[in-house]
Amino acid sequence: MIDNPPAPSAVRGPAADRISAEARRRRTFAVISHPDAGKSTLTEALVLHARVITEAGAIHGKAGRRSTVSDWMEMEKARGISITSTALQFPYSTHGQDCVINLLDTPGHADFSEDTYRVLTAVDCAVMLIDAAKGLEPQTLKLFQVCRHRRIPIITVINKWDRPGREPLELVDEITERIGLRPTPLTWPVGVAGDFKGVLDRRTGTYVKFTRTAGGATAAPEEHFDPEGARVSAGDDWDRAVEESELLEADGADYDRETFLRCESSPMLFTSAALNFGVNQLLDVLVELAPPPHGQVDVEGHARSPEEPFSAFVFKVQAGMDSAHRDRIAYARVCSGTFERGDVLTHAATGKPFVTKYAQSVFGQQRTTLDNAWPGDVIGLANANALRPGDTLYRDVPVVYPPIPSFSPEHFSVARGTDPSKHKQFRRGIEQLEQEGVVQVLRSDRRGDQAPVFAAVGPMQFEVATHRMATELSAPISLEPLPYTVARIVDPEDADFVNRQPSAEVLTRTDGVMLALFATKWRLEGFQRDNPKVVLRSLVAAGDD
Ligand code: G4P
Repeated sequence: MIDNPPAPSAVRGPAADRISAEARRRRTFAVISHPDAGKSTLTEALVLHARVITEAGAIHGKAGRRSTVSDWMEMEKARGISITSTALQFPYSTHGQDCVINLLDTPGHADFSEDTYRVLTAVDCAVMLIDAAKGLEPQTLKLFQVCRHRRIPIITVINKWDRPGREPLELVDEITERIGLRPTPLTWPVGVAGDFKGVLDRRTGTYVKFTRTAGGATAAPEEHFDPEGARVSAGDDWDRAVEESELLEADGADYDRETFLRCESSPMLFTSAALNFGVNQLLDVLVELAPPPHGQVDVEGHARSPEEPFSAFVFKVQAGMDSAHRDRIAYARVCSGTFERGDVLTHAATGKPFVTKYAQSVFGQQRTTLDNAWPGDVIGLANANALRPGDTLYRDVPVVYPPIPSFSPEHFSVARGTDPSKHKQFRRGIEQLEQEGVVQVLRSDRRGDQAPVFAAVGPMQFEVATHRMATELSAPISLEPLPYTVARIVDPEDADFVNRQPSAEVLTRTDGVMLALFATKWRLEGFQRDNPKVVLRSLVAAGDD
């Protein structure tokens, strides 16, 4: 990405310098993790440390804490989970550097939806959060593949070190061996998992000792020791940390910027988000090492540098956040230039003007009017009915960013309206869900317009679609699952032939792409073996590399 040539329209002068400075202080990232690794707790801890809130618990309310900002849907409240994404922005200053952190929240549910992929198109870095006792888990792995596919640099955080867990060197080996990412620990735990005393800062050789606070509700006090003082304070635990750190050094596991940016190595830290241990260090590493926004590559392969006139792309559209207003928010990531509320932009897909009177920053349920934004920021555009995920907005100098790939669905269900008098609402509702990217919608002549097929990466998408059709779009539906698990793109001339196979079916997406669905990978492979002339192409899947 960074190597692409710049677009021809370079911008210079004081305005460009200001944009450049604002872009350089942005850090836009997401946390990827398996559910329960501590993402919500870490988010709270990060914000606590940046001193936006004074007590942990004001953002994500679990178990009696205040209501979480991202739990907006009734369904989410009922389940106590967070399906939607929010963008959290907070200032953070460290070592004389004033930064703005944009933390994009990804769905926390075990089910895996396209939303998460889309959010990852809008970040410059990801924090891979791992439970110290569990190591790499399935969802972490899938999300990691997406990051690697997109070359998103990853910072690895081993969390819950205050609880019994695995050996730290064993975790390093697991990450290296299973996913080929080379951890380069920046901190190393002093005290085994379950007895977290502090960390060895491997770059300075000093010891950072943490002290617990009541309920982990405030930032944990830190004391810094030189190696001598560390030995006195932590004894054998210190010696062991030093020894293991030397083993890492001998193994070449020291930080390396080039390979980090190429997603081949990953700076690693140890935390207890619940106790606020190691969270300061993570923030400092984000500021110091995570890349700021850089040139976004357009469809022609030119990188539009942050100093160029305003441009952004929509990475997510979300409806129904405010049950009183039934509105729809499009989240756009700013790629270049500066944004001021009220700006009239151009919607690249239609060439029409787009007025941004209703720009907001969305902090969970709280919305504040957004007056300006810089590269790396996320703008929430309310009432943005014309905008779809992947759409580009620009000012002055036209640009089109590549579409966001739709990921390979693995779950398929036929949708039918349960109230025949709501025929029109049914059609309109399905169109809307499709435009927002809630589910992909497939059709065939055989099934007819009344029985479109919903295709999803994770079944939770079906629940969201059913819920919204009933409550918001006034067209209740029932879903009948289909026995397919694999989709491949098929050429129109082969469609009839594939359709005649047992356990296979061809359906067409609204964009005209024909998808051949197969019951299992095994069936697909058998078909390909028997019919090598039929070309079947993969969609982007979580595991693609
Ligand atoms: P998620 O968003 O990734 O799903 O995880 P979440 O933060 O909700 O954390 C899952 C559980 O793990 C929570 O416990 C949380 O308190 C706990 N947890 C998170 N980080 C740490 C940590 O560093 N150390 C320890 N010991 N626990 C941690 P819970 O019992 O589900 O909820 P709660 O009653 O504790 O809030």
